[in-house]
Amino acid sequence: MTIADSAPAKAIAASPADILRRNQELYDNVDSPVWHLAVYGPVFGGARYINMGGDALVAQLVDTLALRAADPVLDLGCGTGDLAARLCSLTGCHITGVEINARQAARARQTAHGLTHGRLDIEQADVTRWSSPQKFKAVYSIDTLMLVMDWPAFLRTARQALAGPGGAFVATVILDNGLNEFQRHAFWEEDGFIGLVRRSDARNLFTEAGFGRQQWKSCDDWAVACLSRIEAALHAEQKPIRRAVGDAAWQNWVEMNATYLECFRSGKMVYAMVTARP
Ligand SMILES: C[S@@+](CC[C@H](N)C(=O)[O-])C[C@H]1O[C@@H](n2cnc3c(N)ncnc32)[C@H](O)[C@@H]1O
Repeated sequence: MTIADSAPAKAIAASPADILRRNQELYDNVDSPVWHLAVYGPVFGGARYINMGGDALVAQLVDTLALRAADPVLDLGCGTGDLAARLCSLTGCHITGVEINARQAARARQTAHGLTHGRLDIEQADVTRWSSPQKFKAVYSIDTLMLVMDWPAFLRTARQALAGPGGAFVATVILDNGLNEFQRHAFWEEDGFIGLVRRSDARNLFTEAGFGRQQWKSCDDWAVACLSRIEAALHAEQKPIRRAVGDAAWQNWVEMNATYLECFRSGKMVYAMVTARP
């Protein structure tokens, strides 16, 4: 893999209010038909995950974090709560999910009510401003860091929440591996990616936050498989999707999905998983 870490990328000018507004535009409506028809159904068998790892990622989390019944676990950016609920069902662990978006937090609370194994508690908060007196055996954050401008504050929350040196923080993140300014702007405008960093910068930020031991691995095969399924579903389900969201929105989904596929296939973007320990 080539890593284009040399030229520093120009920061995108966005205020916290811009980021929150973008978040609401994107995540308030993730129950719309296009999400069900193009993503949740065909890619995740109905689970409302907004990540590119799906079942393989779930298995990896259970294994790496060694989750057991009643373990206290923290999910930073828990979305609909479906991923946390799956981990609860598989292991009986007790997850606290932190989610900035009010509607996502409400969805996650509803998800939690349906649990028959384990426990899921939801807090609506910005992870960069959140802390808890409770300590956790494990912390994870899936497909969220690229939406965050203040990585140091986000990583500080993760580090402070870990119970001891034996605990681990697992995160998946999309890294910039040579995107141009036009592409970086498009990913901010379309998907709210304000935190696209290079791999070397990501490593340094984790180290500075107190994660001295890090294992990074590329999960681009997961990303390409996920995006290929979405591409197929956007075409197979094109009629009901166009009827529900309109021709322009369908076309935009097709074009953005193709852009992601091109970026992962060419290596300009990397889907990475890090297991970080103090
Ligand atoms: C791409 S979704 C992933 C959701 C979930 N982790 C999953 O795998 O299905 C990212 C989620 O992180 C939330 N998020 C973004 N920035 C956040 C922040 N600073 N604090 C808390 N949640 C945040 C978003 O609102 C969104 O629900």
